[in-house]
Amino acid sequence: MTATLEVVLTPAEFGPLRNRDLSQTVCVVFDILRATTSMITALANGAEAIIPVEQIGEALEIRRQRPNVLLAGERDGVRIRANLTGGIDFDLGNSPREFTAEKVHGKTIVMTTTNGTRALRACASAKTVLIGSFLNLRTTANWLRDRKPQNLLLVCSGTYEQAAFEDILAAGAVCERVWPNYAGGTVADSAEIARRVYPLMQSNLLDAMKQSRNGRRLMAMPALRDDVWFSVQRETVSFTAEMSKDGIIQKSGAVTPEPQRDLL
Ligand code: MLT
Repeated sequence: MTATLEVVLTPAEFGPLRNRDLSQTVCVVFDILRATTSMITALANGAEAIIPVEQIGEALEIRRQRPNVLLAGERDGVRIRANLTGGIDFDLGNSPREFTAEKVHGKTIVMTTTNGTRALRACASAKTVLIGSFLNLRTTANWLRDRKPQNLLLVCSGTYEQAAFEDILAAGAVCERVWPNYAGGTVADSAEIARRVYPLMQSNLLDAMKQSRNGRRLMAMPALRDDVWFSVQRETVSFTAEMSKDGIIQKSGAVTPEPQRDLL
């Protein structure tokens, strides 16, 4: 069987993903600004687990059953407040800088965001689902390079219904690292595009992020603008994170000792 490498470039592909046989596919989901960056930061700062859900109602139902979980997430970039929930303020938004050890250590976090958690749920039937970010890009790419999954699907969460520059750059960086494993197989044009775009921006990722739609939105919000540089940091954590079949995200593989301080 030939190896396959593909990148999901836009959220328009989430629907078809749900109907696709992913049982022999490893997916890596990227929502660089900001959901997957926040998840990796939370795990680095000692969160026990993250449960990604699509709807606010699902998050509230889990909280009803498990009052100790933290609720996190955004709509239109800002923390979900009582006006969207019928009275409950979420504990955290979707800024990676909020997920400090003080707030998340030992906690399970139920999270809902506009695109990131939707992308993760669309991949739920995959053989393996990894959480991608620049913070753990090398560890994730090395995991993929060494295990050589037969079918690798890099899923860009996008912004609203559009492609997101920052997610495609991260997917391109992974394509570059695993390319030798797939060059003799079936490589989708989407992977070729991502791999060719990454080197153009590699030396100034921060600029690229600032040009992206979500980057521009965040830069315009004084309280959130620092999320942009935070999310472009590379190789600050050394573990992979995986979503289990029951939809729970935890650290997996290549775990190095806990950082001694908050990842801030
Ligand atoms: C999303 O899931 O769409 C993003 O993480 C949006 C954001 O920056 O909060």
